Amino acid sequence: MTQKRWAIQEILNVTTEFLRDKGIESPRLCAEVLLSHQLKKSRVELYLEFDQPLSTLEIAGYRFLIRRRLKREPLQYITGHQEFWSLDFLVSPAVFIPRPETEILVEEALKLKQRDLLSDSFQPKILDLGTGSGAIAIALAKEIQDATIWASDISFEALALARDNTKHHNLNNRIKFCQGDLWQPFSNSSITFDMIISNPPYIPAEAFKMLPPEVSYYEPRIALDGHENGTHFIKRIIEESGIYLKPGGWLLIEMDPDQTERALYLIDSTQSFRYKERLMDYRKKYRMVKAQKING
Ligand SMILES: C[S@@+](CC[C@H](N)C(=O)[O-])C[C@H]1O[C@@H](n2cnc3c(N)ncnc32)[C@H](O)[C@@H]1O
Repeated sequence: MTQKRWAIQEILNVTTEFLRDKGIESPRLCAEVLLSHQLKKSRVELYLEFDQPLSTLEIAGYRFLIRRRLKREPLQYITGHQEFWSLDFLVSPAVFIPRPETEILVEEALKLKQRDLLSDSFQPKILDLGTGSGAIAIALAKEIQDATIWASDISFEALALARDNTKHHNLNNRIKFCQGDLWQPFSNSSITFDMIISNPPYIPAEAFKMLPPEVSYYEPRIALDGHENGTHFIKRIIEESGIYLKPGGWLLIEMDPDQTERALYLIDSTQSFRYKERLMDYRKKYRMVKAQKING
């Protein structure tokens, strides 16, 4: 008996229905992304080669990928890639998967530079605190050619991947990496920055049980857990950033919409800042707080 030869179109249709039945989000997209990963073809190529039959080995490989996704492993960890700021990033379970809403931090940083609002607009010094895969630091290095960028993280594994991403984007020597707990890598130096940007862990410990398994089981807890109320790191960043910012320097922090009021209050309490503002993400939720250090 001859074995059935599945063609690309047919296997995509069957897999989409199967994933839909199993409650997997965006089943068609998932079926296509995993098949293009298995066949090492772009999604457009899949459509151009709809009638092409798959080999037995290709089908076995595809089934293995689908089984991983059924266990709720994020697509990005299966393929090893995520797009951020229209750039391709390597990702692994050692790092947080960069999210689209974080692009507003990059957008806002670029606006400050373009409007000449940085204290040193020639060769500005920028710190990405808690860099993870390096997404923010690398996007900024690409966009602001004369900037010197520092990227820090407590996780050795995350920094190793961020370094791989700088090589992936030919940005060797543009980013200085440091490991340590928040401000510790800078505490013995006199360095001050024109801009400090951070997307810190901000999920309240109490909210973990409500997260989808893709996040709670697969993404590194250290990248997510903002402890009680989720504001542990936000508070530490606001309270100490005044020491590490130049006069007139900017602090940009991503957070949960519910945390922005508290962040504004903390900014006032430090008396280090002369200006503060909340900004919305693409879904019209307050997602980021921006503050400018006093001049004196
Ligand atoms: C939400 S992730 C953000 C990663 C990346 N900046 C992004 O936006 O995709 C937070 C990052 O902070 C790092 N982190 C957690 N605790 C830290 C600490 N005490 N000091 C420095 N970095 C920390 C985590 O390892 C993780 O990479």
